[in-house]
Amino acid sequence: MENPLSFLPIPLLAWYRENARDLPWRREPTPYRVWVSEIMLQQTRVTAVLGYFARFMEAFPTVQDLAAAPEDQLMKLWQGLGYYSRARNLQKAARQIAEDFGGRFPTRYEDLRALAGVGDYTAAAIASIAFGQPVPAVDGNLLRVSARVLGDDTDITTAKGKKHFTAALQSVIPLDFPGQFNQAMMDLGAMVCLPNGAPLCERCPAADFCQAYLQGRTGELPVRPAKKPRRVERRTVYFFFYEGKVALRRRPAKGLLAGLWEYPNALEEETPLADWGLADVEPSFAGTGVHIFTHVEWHMTARWAALTVDTLPPGWVWADKEALRTRYAVPSAFAPFQNLVEEELL
Ligand code: ADE
Repeated sequence: MENPLSFLPIPLLAWYRENARDLPWRREPTPYRVWVSEIMLQQTRVTAVLGYFARFMEAFPTVQDLAAAPEDQLMKLWQGLGYYSRARNLQKAARQIAEDFGGRFPTRYEDLRALAGVGDYTAAAIASIAFGQPVPAVDGNLLRVSARVLGDDTDITTAKGKKHFTAALQSVIPLDFPGQFNQAMMDLGAMVCLPNGAPLCERCPAADFCQAYLQGRTGELPVRPAKKPRRVERRTVYFFFYEGKVALRRRPAKGLLAGLWEYPNALEEETPLADWGLADVEPSFAGTGVHIFTHVEWHMTARWAALTVDTLPPGWVWADKEALRTRYAVPSAFAPFQNLVEEELL
């Protein structure tokens, strides 16, 4: 039988002309804008990205501006988007572009792939959308759509599976509209060919030849093994106030939320107050909150205390409302306690 994916480009591109989402990086798909948007969109929904993208382009309109940006300003702009190493890699790559390519965006797939934070998917997205090169940008959407159209139960989470579906897509990507094909697949995956057994097949341009649909197997495809459960960490988070300011400390330069600012916290079984020179303080219970990361969940108990002296351990700072708003990048993990903090700050 003919490869069912080969029937896809024409009806898919027609569907896309009618249904494409109107997105700012599509209106003006320069390599810089496409790159920044693709990095922001990794693991992150389009609606969450829109505001960040606009503020980022305003602050850093060119790759040179990004290369020269102060790190704290960059992290503050990224605050709340998560996966903060993406922002550091963006700046690293901007510096690579400035130094190795004279500030002009590289056009070759291999050169794109060598930029910090740019993997197969992102290199292909930039090459196809900004430069019109026929390479499939294989993300979870393209894998899901391909596995269903082909009725193929290869595991999409393995390197072998990705290679297999990438090759299948490479053989059908239209040479004249590769960027539109990739983005149409992403939109189809986001709006019609939905994950978790809930696709809207009656609206799908592939319904006539999609093997999963024709065989009633959309609930089984794509095949992906169950994920391991996340580790749960119980943490006590301390809110120390002094004259309308709250204590913050910087996280270590490596690991989870590297280099961001946080309210001092410790595993529930630890007793850190003496180490912090606060042995006499008895912080009171102030609520609970949960934050879910990729591999760990924080189950947090907040405790707060008003200090009577302003001495803090080395490296900690006092932040007032304005500093918290404009200066220190504090991750969303602490968002459950925002009201608690704002009520005490001046
Ligand atoms: N998700 C990631 N990149 C995208 C793009 N260019 N269009 C729509 N959704 C996306």
